[in-house]
Amino acid sequence: MSVPDLSSYAERWNRRHLLDLESLSADEITILLDVAQALKDATQGCRRKLSLLTGKTCANLFFENSTRTRNSFSLAAKRLGADTVEFGSAGSSTAKGETFADTAKTIEAMGVDWVVTRHSTPGTPNLLARELGCCVLNAGDGPHEHPTQGLLDLLTIRQHREVLEGLTVALVGDIAHSRTARSNIWGLRKLGAHVIICGPPTLVSPRWQELGFEVAHHLDEILPRCDVLNLLRIQFERQDARPFPSVHEYAALYAMNGARMKQAKDNILIMAPGPINRGVEITPEVADGPHSVILEQVTNGIAVRMSALYLLSAADDRFANSAVDPT
Ligand code: CP
Repeated sequence: MSVPDLSSYAERWNRRHLLDLESLSADEITILLDVAQALKDATQGCRRKLSLLTGKTCANLFFENSTRTRNSFSLAAKRLGADTVEFGSAGSSTAKGETFADTAKTIEAMGVDWVVTRHSTPGTPNLLARELGCCVLNAGDGPHEHPTQGLLDLLTIRQHREVLEGLTVALVGDIAHSRTARSNIWGLRKLGAHVIICGPPTLVSPRWQELGFEVAHHLDEILPRCDVLNLLRIQFERQDARPFPSVHEYAALYAMNGARMKQAKDNILIMAPGPINRGVEITPEVADGPHSVILEQVTNGIAVRMSALYLLSAADDRFANSAVDPT
């Protein structure tokens, strides 16, 4: 496969870490999306290999479960010719009392260029960015952010609608515990979309309104205006108390189902970060229906992770012998 010339993007990129979308500019997010699209095209839909990062090594340090993010980071690194190291907390020396930072430093000392980390504690990627010398990518830190999920959602919308500016995008469900919601909220706003944050009052803070976002508690009231729905899973594992009387009542008010599809725009995009709970936030007929782009989101996960690995590595190489202090 021929390697695309991405040097003009790399020259405009100055970060060695990807920790969140809140701190990125619209220009930086656009660079990440443009490179992701170029790499997706050059790898024939993320299926073929390019020799772009040969000789580099990516370590996946996952302290929480993952199917999509972990495997797609691994595939993204391999598609660009890099090696991977897979670390799972189960069976590791963390059970013997080793700290998170010491574990990460130990893996880094084996000669890795990127550490991809997922942890239940917000801020853990920022800690590693201070402690380690290599590039750090946040693969989800508790309910804080999941920047590559936000990017793959933006890329998927862009592929269907070309521009995000002016689109109305609703994030529906468990906003309070969703790192995907937070990364989408910042990314969508920066690219000019109108964001509606929708869910039960127990799962949507009124502070989003103070920050200038539209907040809604009734899906049926906002549905006819939406170009895109992103349906978030109820994260029972992060909740101390049940935020609604029953799953049945939640589904009656917020699940996207066949009857609600009749109230939606003809070209509405149905998205979900996954894993999905069929019958809770989305019914099978909608999840598997013609408006659903859920599996396209999965493929785009490889594209945006290839983009992030490439751009961070390019900045790292550029700054390696430079007096400039990179971000
Ligand atoms: N969307 C997402 O982060 O999925 P995984 O938990 O499977 O990685």
